[in-house]
Amino acid sequence: MTRSLFDEPPTPYDAPESIAPGAVLLHNYACDQAEALIQAAQQVIAAAPLRHLITPGGHTMAVAMSNCGDFGWVSDRTGYRYERTNPLSGQPWPAMPACFADMAARAAAEAGFEGFRPDACLINRYEPGARMSLHQDRDEADMTAPIVSVSLGLPAVFLFGGLQRSDRPARYRLAHGDVAVWGGPSRLAFHGVAPLADGDHPQLGRQRINLTFRRAG
Ligand code: SIN
Ligand code: FE2
Repeated sequence: MTRSLFDEPPTPYDAPESIAPGAVLLHNYACDQAEALIQAAQQVIAAAPLRHLITPGGHTMAVAMSNCGDFGWVSDRTGYRYERTNPLSGQPWPAMPACFADMAARAAAEAGFEGFRPDACLINRYEPGARMSLHQDRDEADMTAPIVSVSLGLPAVFLFGGLQRSDRPARYRLAHGDVAVWGGPSRLAFHGVAPLADGDHPQLGRQRINLTFRRAG
């Protein structure tokens, strides 16, 4: 069954909602672990502060980012890539918290991707008005591994398109505790996030935190 953006959000976690071949939404899947994930994210951010990266085209990204794990995704005037160290500090990225790796592996398995062991987690922080334009995740070495994306805090509208940038994306609501997983035939699907609506989330206030897990190296 495909649910439209305007229906009541489902509770509690029930079953994967298929949105494309190899792509599912796991509504409420991370709700039980949300407090632990938020605390762990705050520790990562304390060690590797969020920052607004510059795109190769010279624009400042609306979303603030940090990373944990063996590899961190970075962007600057020279391009997009994964780095083992934080360019701001020269230090390795903080280790991936056990609750992060565990959530990513369990959600991937629930979506049909057994044995996912992420080595990179990008932390995205959206404030009201921040958006992420349509893009593919294609800087990873291993395209057989899926992407696992956990939403915390304010709800967002997730845009999920096809393999061509020109494919019109469908819109899905991602709320606190929802997990999106895409891989296999959808691994290179274009996706993005519409400008974040203002609000006040009980745990995170006026922000949305997204954890994106990948096999980068
Ligand atoms: C991303 O594509 O890196 C982020 C997606 C999201 O914030 O839900
Ligand atoms: Fe992405």
